[in-house]
Amino acid sequence: MSNDLDDTLKQLVGEAKRAVGEAGDERALDDVRVRYLGKKGELTALLKSLGQLAPEDRPAAGARINAAKDELQDAIGARRQHLSREQMARALEAEQVDVTLPGRRDAGGGLHPVTQALLRMEDIFVGAGYSVVTGPEVENDYYNFEALNIPAHHPARAMHDTFYFADGTLLRTHTSPSQVHTMEREEPPIRVICPGRVYRRDSDLTHSPMFQQLEGLVIDRGISFADLKGTVIEFLQRFFEKELSVRFRPSYFPFTEPSAEVDVQCVQCLGEGCRVCSHTGWLEVMGCGVVHPNVLEMSGIDSETYSGFAFGMGIDRLAMLLYEVDDLRLFYDNDLRFLRQFN
Ligand code: DAH
Repeated sequence: MSNDLDDTLKQLVGEAKRAVGEAGDERALDDVRVRYLGKKGELTALLKSLGQLAPEDRPAAGARINAAKDELQDAIGARRQHLSREQMARALEAEQVDVTLPGRRDAGGGLHPVTQALLRMEDIFVGAGYSVVTGPEVENDYYNFEALNIPAHHPARAMHDTFYFADGTLLRTHTSPSQVHTMEREEPPIRVICPGRVYRRDSDLTHSPMFQQLEGLVIDRGISFADLKGTVIEFLQRFFEKELSVRFRPSYFPFTEPSAEVDVQCVQCLGEGCRVCSHTGWLEVMGCGVVHPNVLEMSGIDSETYSGFAFGMGIDRLAMLLYEVDDLRLFYDNDLRFLRQFN
């Protein structure tokens, strides 16, 4: 009898241990435990059958079955520990982080070429003691025309293809109104640049309905055309980083007297003549002049005591020349393939 029991136990424990060894995860292992040690398990059934033995045989048989049970429980415990270590190792392997790899960056943005050109201009003027001020894009007739010595019916108005709103306000056609706001607000000496968007009903290869200008205004005692010339030449040479020739052509603007248009030696061909300068060797880059006394007086500045100069240039136009871009509209199409070249 006891030999029979020993054989049965040996076989059962052997079989159970094999099943334990084969259990690939916690769940399979638990199934094995239930199969042998659960309420209806095979070892449990043996314990229950003790009642059928002669009373004097029961303690010894019970002890042996309990020993087998302990043995199996130990095997299950060891297997459980093994499985959990294995699982941890797998997780560590899978979730491994190489802290020496470079991080994932956001794709780097960049400043728009027109903004880059503007910052370049601001740098030069701020370095010369100018402040940067801005004015509104929606103006009225007084600031855009009247206060700049362009009264109603003045022929110069025809040069400004103006966008009007129903209430009589308008989109400024140039940054010159910022001169007026500045003179109304500040006492001389004044030294400002005023960048900003301007609007005209115009659109082709070199004109966009919205473009950007940079206005300059200097007012103090004894300011002359010579100050204007020196300033403009110095600015252009710094902006293009070349010792370019500059010429002043007599011109007309209602708000300055005398007035001039400024040409710079072609940055592309250095005066040889090319497509960019229409084979003239020169590029027109800005308008300027000595501020008209009417303009000073209208904004409350004594034209007997003070004089000044002003200039206005297209930021987009200078950006085109600086970066050798031949279609203005590229600046406003927002094609990333174009814009990325300026990062
Ligand atoms: N306002 C002019 C324009 O938009 C440019 C200009 C010319 C501005 C001469 C000035 C100036 O300040 O003195 O065409």
